[in-house]
Amino acid sequence: MTVPAPAPTRAEDYRGPYGLSEDQDLFRRTVHEFVAREIVPTAHEYDESETFPRENVRKMAELGLLGLVVPEEYGGAGASTLDYVLAMEEVSWGCASHAVVMSVNNSLVCEPIHRFGTDEQRREHLPRLAAGEYIGSYCLSEPTSGSDASNMATTARREGVDWVLNGTKSWISNGGEAGLYLVYAVSNTGVPKARGITAFLVHADNPGLRTGAKERKLGIRASATTQVFLEDCRVPSSAVLGRVDEGFKIAMSTLDGGRIGIASQALGIAQRALDETIRYSKERVAFGHPIAEFQGLQWRMADMATRIEAARLLIYRAARMKDAGQPYAKEASMAKLFASETANFCAHAAVQTFGGYGYVRDYPVEKLFRDAKITEIYEGTSEIQRLVISRHILREVARSK
Ligand code: CAA
Repeated sequence: MTVPAPAPTRAEDYRGPYGLSEDQDLFRRTVHEFVAREIVPTAHEYDESETFPRENVRKMAELGLLGLVVPEEYGGAGASTLDYVLAMEEVSWGCASHAVVMSVNNSLVCEPIHRFGTDEQRREHLPRLAAGEYIGSYCLSEPTSGSDASNMATTARREGVDWVLNGTKSWISNGGEAGLYLVYAVSNTGVPKARGITAFLVHADNPGLRTGAKERKLGIRASATTQVFLEDCRVPSSAVLGRVDEGFKIAMSTLDGGRIGIASQALGIAQRALDETIRYSKERVAFGHPIAEFQGLQWRMADMATRIEAARLLIYRAARMKDAGQPYAKEASMAKLFASETANFCAHAAVQTFGGYGYVRDYPVEKLFRDAKITEIYEGTSEIQRLVISRHILREVARSK
């Protein structure tokens, strides 16, 4: 099988149009070069064989990508959210499967441990998660509670000084590969569910934690997604992250940050779709001309480029607001909603431009088409993003009256 050549490295300068510093643009280029060199040549094979890219994940850890958001005192890169989204876009440009490993580790596991953990929990986990000694996993969804996240059935029962967890978690990214699982469970049945959920840090080798078979997915096929079974899984009280019964707020505020990461994943997919489309349409000749000379395709590329720019600006705005310590949940949802729809629009447009070549696996756009879909589903579907955005704007209108 022909392994498709990567699109040429984008050389444009991000400093002027996006207000990035010299260091930020250099960092982005460094990650891009790493991705073009290490990830792009192997991504196709990992996807085809549905194999978790352990060797590449190790190299990503070496470059500091797994602990970007972890402060330096805990062994991380101490990067800003803006730096993180720059890196996420570039990794996703190379392969969305690799990007989800990075985003779950950074946004969904390292961040809440840093924000809500005890110093002991930070010292135990953050340096190891940042170094890739083990990776993290975030266990919220269940077979009957995806969007309605607080309606979970997994329970946490106190037994002496321990907690005993029972339940099933579904569609868990990094499942079976992770060394640490952040598990949410109902700890108090006497209150509304959102006020009676606790977060637990559970080691992969903790008796009673078991992962299921790897899901066979439409896209991001190199990433590991499994069920996680908790069967009388006994953990000490030191496994509780944050306060007992306050886990739902940890889950939700963690997802606010995670959504900026997934938005950047979508952006990377969209940008790659455009880059491949431009390259192909300049090379492909039909009716005696390179197809890039046809107005229909020019307009398609113009629409792709415009949506990509708008998505990037929404993402950078949300990231900058988070870095500035401002409320950013609405902006994160807007960025994820728009970027994920952009990724699907652009991947669809790329396949259409490639025609028959777009529909076969020898060319990269077929994978982009499949990978793009998940960005409209995980870390809150597009419907949930619209719900979050509309709740915010309705509250803002009510406040301003
Ligand atoms: N930050 C902090 N607290 C928050 C919050 C936030 N962003 N959003 C809600 N809360 C708090 C509320 O203030 C409320 O607290 P009080 O009880 O003290 O008032 C409590 O949480 C309940 O809030 P809501 O009444 O708004 O909750 P809800 O039941 O209506 O649900 C929802 C809100 C937005 C629909 C939420 O359930 C949701 O986001 N669903 C989608 C779940 C999701 O994104 N899942 C992704 C799975 S993880 C994943 O995909 C990872 C991966 O594989 C990559």
